Amino acid sequence: MLRTHTCGELTLENIGQTATLCGWVDTIRDFGGVTFIDLRDRYGRTQVVFNPDSTQEVLAEMGKLKNEYVIKVVGEVRPRPDGQTNKKLATGEVEFVVSDLEILNECKTPPFVPGQKDVPGEDLRLKHRYLDLRREKMLQTLQLRSRIIKTMRDYCADNNFIDIETPILGRSTPEGARDYLVPSRVFKGKFYALPQSPQIYKQIMMIAGYDRYIQVARCFRDEDLRADRQPEFTQLDLEMSFVDSDDVIGMIDGMMQRLAKELLGLDLQLPLQRLTYDEAMTRFGHDAPDLRFGMEIVDVTDLASACGFGVFKSTAEAGKFVRGVNAKGAAPMYSRKRIDELTNMVKDDFGAKGLAWFRCEEDGSLFSPIAKFFTEEELADLKIRFDAEPGDLLLLIADTWDISCKGLYSIRKRMGVELELYDPKEMHFSWVVEFPMFERGDETERWNAMHHPFTAPRDQDLDQLDSDAGKTRAKAYDLVINGYEAGGGTIRIHDSGIQQKVFGLLGLDEESAQERFGFLLDALKYGAPPHGGIALGIDRVVMLFAGLDNIRDCIAFPKTQKAYDMMTEAPNVVENLQLEDLGIEISKLIGNQKTDSEEQSEGTQ
Ligand code: AMO
Ligand code: AMP
Repeated sequence: MLRTHTCGELTLENIGQTATLCGWVDTIRDFGGVTFIDLRDRYGRTQVVFNPDSTQEVLAEMGKLKNEYVIKVVGEVRPRPDGQTNKKLATGEVEFVVSDLEILNECKTPPFVPGQKDVPGEDLRLKHRYLDLRREKMLQTLQLRSRIIKTMRDYCADNNFIDIETPILGRSTPEGARDYLVPSRVFKGKFYALPQSPQIYKQIMMIAGYDRYIQVARCFRDEDLRADRQPEFTQLDLEMSFVDSDDVIGMIDGMMQRLAKELLGLDLQLPLQRLTYDEAMTRFGHDAPDLRFGMEIVDVTDLASACGFGVFKSTAEAGKFVRGVNAKGAAPMYSRKRIDELTNMVKDDFGAKGLAWFRCEEDGSLFSPIAKFFTEEELADLKIRFDAEPGDLLLLIADTWDISCKGLYSIRKRMGVELELYDPKEMHFSWVVEFPMFERGDETERWNAMHHPFTAPRDQDLDQLDSDAGKTRAKAYDLVINGYEAGGGTIRIHDSGIQQKVFGLLGLDEESAQERFGFLLDALKYGAPPHGGIALGIDRVVMLFAGLDNIRDCIAFPKTQKAYDMMTEAPNVVENLQLEDLGIEISKLIGNQKTDSEEQSEGTQ
């Protein structure tokens, strides 16, 4: 090693010792003769001192130093003078008096320095990721990530799981997103698909008898990106045999308890809270509700059907819903203008037709522009149903189930933040279980699988597959942390007949199912055990444990919102020869498009 110690290591115990440190010049402070440098590496910072009585050579070299130069210093450890100690720093009680200095490498003037107070713009950070990764926050997050993955792996190893790698070049897996495709040179015109998850492989491992599998698996999905979605991301993927939902949930409960304890010092009470999907939608309008605060949805459709307000009455009579939330104590803070903003949000984002509101006044009466359409009795009823007290603001949407869910969910989410209804540092873990098997596709009448097509229906719902598929509930469970879906899994179908039936409902006839998943259908006929599993989104778990709101900050080399890598400038053009090898010709129109970083950079917003 070029060094004897790291920059985070020297303490009062090393006083008088001679040591050698290597690192980056973090700051340079010149106090007329005496120069202080904060020398930084992954482990910390050490205050390095150059005295005027250093040799001419050392002083000459020191004069050349600038931010982010990489240097090696030899010197002696001594206590910092009284009043100059820094208790926050591990090395804050000592300083390092230099006797020799070697510049290992220079650094161009950087576009930003890692220690600067304000966070640089994300375009710059992604383009110069090597500088950005030097920032302390990034270092802490990636270290946390490493510890989270180690804890997950240790827990799984303690519970007898085998770590198995599955192919990256494979066959398309149906997780609902677009595939990333890789052309084959040998089989011209044919493509591998990068895995959207190792789903089929892990099921095959169960059929092969490896009854507890895990993998830290990279997944690839070409879908619209958001703050919590990347085109390539990492799962802790897990599968078990001879289990039902409770067993998988119990296994992850234990893992979360260990993670929370080891990484955050929190004691989680098990079992973690569980809500059914129907309950989550009814009470919170969403399948991954933030349970750190109340503000639950109240359904007043019955009351609305008998009232004099035309919009409410006709909505209720049409079999739709009138539901709302009580924003406790919010009335004084929400002027008409702010209520209009909420109204526009539900209109623009979800197509709601309006947002009705009632303010509970000092005297306990309900004030609203539409109050005149309600009798005293109906207003009193509304108050009771919403448990309204002076200062409360009631917000109601009359619409389809779907729009009332989406609208009220987003109102609850936004007001939860604006009204500071919870401590952002608090962590809340829960499960949403028993999802519907199917949902309607946006534009088609066909069913889509809500999770994926290998999900088993609840035993008591098996008969319903034929009669009322839409009502069938699945053996499916999502782990929810602070209002984010942190993981999702299901018990699988292990009977090829039921699997075939589900494919049929999804519009896959026998021939096309055989064509796409023949190997799995075949394998299911060769002694498949009952099995199930789950995948946790590691990037999201890290984001939540780190208290961040963006997974790009939890990934060493993330992509922009447009799936562009600003540092390496991928995707990019390739040599014509490579294309010829693959038998691929780029159409002229596409060929003219540029993939330059300017065009791509807006993708970080
Ligand atoms: P699912 O599709 O629900 O299930 O994914 C599991 C978890 O992975 C995370 N996740 C993502 N994270 C970042 N970027 C993305 N684009 C992204 N997409 C998903 C989420 C999610 O909860 N094979 C099944 C699991 C199973 O059934 O065992 C699967 O992949 O945290
Ligand atoms: P209008 O009759 O359209 O003038 O609306 C009167 C009030 O009712 C306004 O505050 C609207 O925002 C509200 N409103 C209209 N349609 C709905 C609806 N579908 N759900 C809730 N409030 C509505």
